[in-house]
Amino acid sequence: MYLKMLQKRRSIRKYQNKEVSGEQIQALLQAALLSPSSRGQRPWQFILIDQEEILEELAEAKAGGSSFLAGAEIAVAVAADPGASDVWVEDCSIAATHIQMMAEDLGLGSCWIQIRRRQRQDGIDSENYVRDVLDLPDKLRVLAIVALGYPDEEKPSYELDELNYDRVHYNSYGQEIPN
Ligand SMILES: Cc1cc2nc3c(=O)[nH]c(=O)nc-3n(C[C@H](O)[C@H](O)[C@H](O)COP(=O)(O)O)c2cc1C
Repeated sequence: MYLKMLQKRRSIRKYQNKEVSGEQIQALLQAALLSPSSRGQRPWQFILIDQEEILEELAEAKAGGSSFLAGAEIAVAVAADPGASDVWVEDCSIAATHIQMMAEDLGLGSCWIQIRRRQRQDGIDSENYVRDVLDLPDKLRVLAIVALGYPDEEKPSYELDELNYDRVHYNSYGQEIPN
């Protein structure tokens, strides 16, 4: 059941040294390519990374929250040409989420690493750094990198009765949905 899978999904930042198969990689990329996008423009570009040295370089993309990428089996950088869509951020966010949900379904762990609007310790813009490492065309913006691999840490599932139901309103703001 999809809801159970959503409860189980947690950000995983430690990965086993175990190969992610070609079929799994294909499914992850297909899930990304199946994402809905505004006006069906599909402005995204996905860069699959499986080379250890490149993962290590990308782990230094920002001041904090990216170092664990060095231990990932694979990663997918999600980028887009803003000229192809004014809502490329939304389109790329949906695609990154599709990758994360597909990963969960495949028994893989994943974590979003934010690149847009982030900097490295030395002040270099994270997008410029990633653009350089991956040899991306100048026109591409980089939203995020999704780190992937078999989980090497366990985290509790979310409980449905602990969700922030106070964030949900009924017909007008502040009104609760009747039981
Ligand atoms: C837009 C966005 C940016 C995020 N950026 C990072 C990041 O740069 N590094 C990181 O380790 N986790 C990042 N995360 C993961 C969040 O920290 C994580 O989803 C949140 O703490 C909730 O935990 P959960 O995913 O286990 O439910 C990001 C998540 C989102 C949605």
